[in-house]
Amino acid sequence: MSLASQELENSASKYASEAIKSDSNGSYGVAITNYQKAVDSLMKLMKCYPNNKLNRIYIERRASYKNRIKLLQMTSSVELNSEKKADNTADLSNDFNNLIMTEKPQINWEEVIGLDDAKNALRESIVYPTKRPDLFPLGWPRGILLYGPPGCGKTVLAAATANEIDGYFFNVDAASMMSKWLGEAEKNVSKLFNIARSYAEKQIKPVILFIDEVDSLLGTRNSEVGGEIRARNQFLIEMDGVNTKHKELKMYVIGATNKPWSLDWPFLRRFQKRISASLPDIKSRVSLFDLYSIPLKIDDKVKSTELAKISNGYSASDIRDICQAAQLKAVNELFNSNEYTEPIDGEDLPQPKNLTMIDFKEIMNRRKPSVSTEMVKAYYKWGEEFKAL
Ligand SMILES: Nc1ncnc2c1ncn2[C@@H]1O[C@H](COP(=O)(O)OP(=O)(O)O)[C@@H](O)[C@H]1O
Ligand SMILES: [Mg+2]
Repeated sequence: MSLASQELENSASKYASEAIKSDSNGSYGVAITNYQKAVDSLMKLMKCYPNNKLNRIYIERRASYKNRIKLLQMTSSVELNSEKKADNTADLSNDFNNLIMTEKPQINWEEVIGLDDAKNALRESIVYPTKRPDLFPLGWPRGILLYGPPGCGKTVLAAATANEIDGYFFNVDAASMMSKWLGEAEKNVSKLFNIARSYAEKQIKPVILFIDEVDSLLGTRNSEVGGEIRARNQFLIEMDGVNTKHKELKMYVIGATNKPWSLDWPFLRRFQKRISASLPDIKSRVSLFDLYSIPLKIDDKVKSTELAKISNGYSASDIRDICQAAQLKAVNELFNSNEYTEPIDGEDLPQPKNLTMIDFKEIMNRRKPSVSTEMVKAYYKWGEEFKAL
């Protein structure tokens, strides 16, 4: 979550709590104004950040404030006193539980291209100990940090690992966990670990707890400091528990971050393995183009080796997007062509032309790599000092 979105979120949350306070005091006019302001801020937040994971929660809250406003406007104050108020705290814990995703993306090891170091480290510290704990008398690392630019496979690596060991996969986003709308962050941290641990202790299946944007637990400079320090400290305590308490516990914490430099040493130390998921090299780019063009119709002259040569600097997800955009372009041309007629039953559906090298080049000219060379250097430099394979 960005700083700007956090500010919007904080102001929405402030209006909401003021509204609820006035509402309980019987100052219904003030309450209506503040509910309305909260509604507006939430609306703005969702407009600016349509992909925010918390939007589902915002929608519910906004509906509940709107209802309350309606009720306050329609009913006399005497009746209101006995009515149930919009409550800011009632289902906070439920909201948080809903943020923990347990669905495992169906991706396997082979579909994660490149990243051989990362795969080896994950095999060594998760896959082998899970299969043969007897071979690890000194124990094994439970904390693994994946760092690197966005779109290079941190999430898919974690998911593929969970599939490989047929484990439970808990996926949470630390930025959302810090939201003012989900109650106290440090309680959420301990709840999260408790849930994961309770699964791992049943010993049926190993557990992978994947915490995305794990740097958010350390907070950002401009927001309230106290809550974040508590969340961070709670996280350190929980990590120590996982690392030391039960030798046989099959629970792993994989943290992912695009901003490894904002992690401090006590935090880093809890992740015994710190592994880079970096931009794809030329060999991986060939495989990525091959992988993502499987379902597309492509001219014979298009060679993934050529595409790989001209796509230095693009991330894996950039390459997926390029393939998608090339297909979109062809489909667009099909729909806009004069010959396009609605298909008649029984006839073959009209098809877009095969994608050519020119199509791919055009797309790449229009979209630059999402990671800058400065960033790449910054990851490399950080890794030189802090990586641990
Ligand atoms: N190494 C990779 N191999 C294949 N696809 C990848 C790889 N890295 C990223 N992708 C594609 O990009 C998308 C985003 O990747 P993700 O794992 O979420 O990146 P990150 O977590 O590093 O930001 C994935 O869903 C996948 O389609
Ligand atoms: Mg990710």
